[in-house]
Amino acid sequence: MKIGVLTSGGDAPGMNAAIRAVVRCGIDAGMDVYGIKRGYEGLLDGEIEQMSLSSVGDILHRGGTILKTARSERFSTEEGVKRSKVILGTFGIDALIVIGGDGSMRGALELSKLGVNVMCLPGTIDNDLAYTDYTIGFDTAVNTVLDAISKVRDTSSAHERNTIIEVMGRHCGDIALYAGVGGGAEAVLIPEVEADVNRVCRKILQGAGRGKLNSIIINAEGSGVSSEELAKEIAEVTGRETRIVVLSYLQRGGVPTLDDRLLASQSGAKAIELIQNGIKNRAIGTVNGKIQAFEIEGALAEKPEFDHELYELIDVLSK
Ligand code: F6P
Repeated sequence: MKIGVLTSGGDAPGMNAAIRAVVRCGIDAGMDVYGIKRGYEGLLDGEIEQMSLSSVGDILHRGGTILKTARSERFSTEEGVKRSKVILGTFGIDALIVIGGDGSMRGALELSKLGVNVMCLPGTIDNDLAYTDYTIGFDTAVNTVLDAISKVRDTSSAHERNTIIEVMGRHCGDIALYAGVGGGAEAVLIPEVEADVNRVCRKILQGAGRGKLNSIIINAEGSGVSSEELAKEIAEVTGRETRIVVLSYLQRGGVPTLDDRLLASQSGAKAIELIQNGIKNRAIGTVNGKIQAFEIEGALAEKPEFDHELYELIDVLSK
């Protein structure tokens, strides 16, 4: 049996661990494993090469993806999906493992509708796939934000300033939310809750009332308020200097945490097990700590729910 593996969309720490698991478990199961470069772009260009046990050596601890990644316009057309199926057929690939986020999985779903067997692994820092408790890369990204908060807190405290830390996550506030709780932020602005800048200012003033001389505010990129607007308003209302730190791509790189390596390794192994057992078209994820597989369409239809209790907790813990 021949299988292909690709990474697609924004890279996420742990993608390499997932590729390694797919290649090593696949070979262990007697399969030929082919690496497809640059996601669906590379698939359309036929950038496909057989992988060996040693081609995934020394990558478990590395961020990025050795297969490279891309967001493919060409693949998003009906023609692109059809062409991809033909190319997979030319290489004799019986099943495709896609490591990526929401958009990549939607692409995989289209391929499955044409009869290609696809297995999806959730690779994105955003944690925006509702069918799985966590996505590969999320834990590392949040830890990167926590590290930044600790450093920023030192200098904010020394200068008695407010600092807004802008984080990624697209339409999902999980990076902001989890980092807010773990990092002791005074307030968090997330896409799931309508931004209330007055409330943030009141919170800072409340803290100032009991002698707090600096505050950390986390602004998710999709909150609806720009960090510049937020900083201007907070500075005006609180009368305290307010700076902005945009963490941007720092959150997408770095050494994957144990949680991400485990999720990636176990998900990769599960994909191979499913293919070996003749099961087709599944999205793999973790629910209550257990690796599970779901029908792709159903998995993608699940509505993301954000943790309201966690959001409220931030307010109480930072009083
Ligand atoms: O999906 C991962 C992510 O990092 C989002 O958090 C962010 O909005 C987006 O990708 C940025 O994408 P790009 O690197 O294509 O600009």
